[in-house]
Amino acid sequence: MSLDVSKLPRVSIAHLPTPLEFAPRLTQYLGGPQIWIKRDDCTGLAFGGNKARKLEFFLGDALEKGSDAILTMGPVQSNHVRMTAAAARKFGLECHAVLVGDSNAPRMGNFLLDQLLGLEYNLIPGSLDDLPPGLVEQEIENYMTRLAESGRKSYLVPPGGAGPLGELSYSLAAQEIEAQSRKLRINVDYIVVPVGSQGTLSGLILGKKLLGLNANLIGISVCVEGTAESAGLPSIEDMVKEAGKLLKAQVEVSGDDYELLFDYVGDGYGIPTDECISAIKLLAQKEGILVDPTYTGKSLAGLIDLARRGKFNKKDVVVYLHTGGGPGLFSNPAIFD
Ligand SMILES: Cc1ncc(COP(=O)(O)O)c(C=O)c1O
Repeated sequence: MSLDVSKLPRVSIAHLPTPLEFAPRLTQYLGGPQIWIKRDDCTGLAFGGNKARKLEFFLGDALEKGSDAILTMGPVQSNHVRMTAAAARKFGLECHAVLVGDSNAPRMGNFLLDQLLGLEYNLIPGSLDDLPPGLVEQEIENYMTRLAESGRKSYLVPPGGAGPLGELSYSLAAQEIEAQSRKLRINVDYIVVPVGSQGTLSGLILGKKLLGLNANLIGISVCVEGTAESAGLPSIEDMVKEAGKLLKAQVEVSGDDYELLFDYVGDGYGIPTDECISAIKLLAQKEGILVDPTYTGKSLAGLIDLARRGKFNKKDVVVYLHTGGGPGLFSNPAIFD
């Protein structure tokens, strides 16, 4: 079976398929399992990352609806905001965001790129973890009203690109991994992925269910347990179900379909752990591949810890989904002192 998305509006943004590369020196260093890296950091679009796949469907939808301005939301160092701004520009649209962060946030990393892309934004001072409930939703609504009053037809890309269209794009990524592994004659035992707004993992679960894949999915959360619920996100089960409906598929998800680990978050979202810093340096020095301090470094630290604890057999094939985030390396160099 292959997934048919031909009826849905979609634009071409990401450089697909992204490479699936063996990581021989990391594998040897750990003494197994066999680690492969799915290079979704190489999707293109203003330094790349997982949001490029999602934005193909959101921008397709926005253009079909005749929108002329894109609005989204995220923290000041959001990869999602940076890539959404770039996608809007690629199709000649205005880009706007509600940002949350320090009102004196330094113009570095993603926040610098946002400004080069001409992002217009409203900054809410504070941190995503401790804003009064409903404030962000209210700010988004106010922003959309202002855009409408100034004659724009705006389109809201949900925070993190978490919405059925975004999840759908990662069911296609699961299909891509399956096709590549067949060609490479490897049998994927595990796929390990960072989890923020849960859309990437949900999309992979959808792909696994619909395509009947054997790979075990392990999501490594970069947010403390309960963040998704307090941010008003649907459960992973519901996210998969809703995305399945776009393919006219009825999908039931159970706890056996994936694992979600909260053991590698440390003190909270965006606060790097010592293990994350070590994992960033390890991958850089073993494979010449860079991961970031917020998402991919923490999930890689989780994968390394799981390997050391004997979660995998030495011969298992583990695909690590590198979802990008590179600009975050330039947001606070002092963490590497
Ligand atoms: C680099 C990177 N990796 C992973 C994620 C998490 O993906 P999701 O929000 O789909 O769980 C994000 C989300 O912003 C990201 O920017």
